[in-house]
Amino acid sequence: MLRLPVLLLLAVLMPTASQPNTIPADGPAYTSDGQLRYPEHYREWVYLTSGVNMSYNPKAQADGHTMFDNVFVNPSAWRAFQQVGTWPDGTVMVLENRGGESGKSINKHGQTQSVEVMGMEIHVKDARLKGGWGFFEFDNQVSARLTPRPASCYTCHEEHAAVDTTFVQFYPTLVGLAQKKGTLSPAYLKEIATPAAK
Ligand code: HEC
Repeated sequence: MLRLPVLLLLAVLMPTASQPNTIPADGPAYTSDGQLRYPEHYREWVYLTSGVNMSYNPKAQADGHTMFDNVFVNPSAWRAFQQVGTWPDGTVMVLENRGGESGKSINKHGQTQSVEVMGMEIHVKDARLKGGWGFFEFDNQVSARLTPRPASCYTCHEEHAAVDTTFVQFYPTLVGLAQKKGTLSPAYLKEIATPAAK
């Protein structure tokens, strides 16, 4: 009984569902004016790491506040990475910041993460973007504009990130795989071969 309507529905949906290119269902979605839509379900994605108080300035002074950053990636991109050691078109990586808190509940030492999200940045691989990757800085849970080039985001990631402009050297479940698949960037291989000038 249900078969015919279902088939008809599929026939209507199929041509649009496979467009515009290879972008997966959990990949980037945009508003009509090209802003990246907030990925509502990123907390169900694959967890990569939590950095604590990361800073790129050797002289940076801790101001007494702890900041955590948590990194997530969409599952289809994570699965592709398992096969080839690098990211497919349609990769979406989320970095969310949460403040560190001490003395909450039974906790006597160390820090736990705030309920409040202090910031959210997204790195998207999409062949339609200039350079193939784009950064988006969210200040709401709706959408964000592309950070235009040139920007320090692009320079630092392009010069220092281990795999395809992403910081896989800090993602413990991926770095070994990238090494095995031979996808570590020449710049990163050089960096680990030369002792850092301190
Ligand atoms: C000086 C270097 C540097 C600059 C500048 C920088 N980042 Fe990053 N970024 C990092 C490092 C290191 C990580 C790894 C974080 C971790 O391990 O927790 C990272 C990770 C990320 C991630 C997670 C996905 C990935 O690519 O690995 C996003 C998203 C991100 N940064 C966004 C931004 C945005 C947006 C800007 C510009 C406003 C920016 N970054 C500027 C160094 C940088």
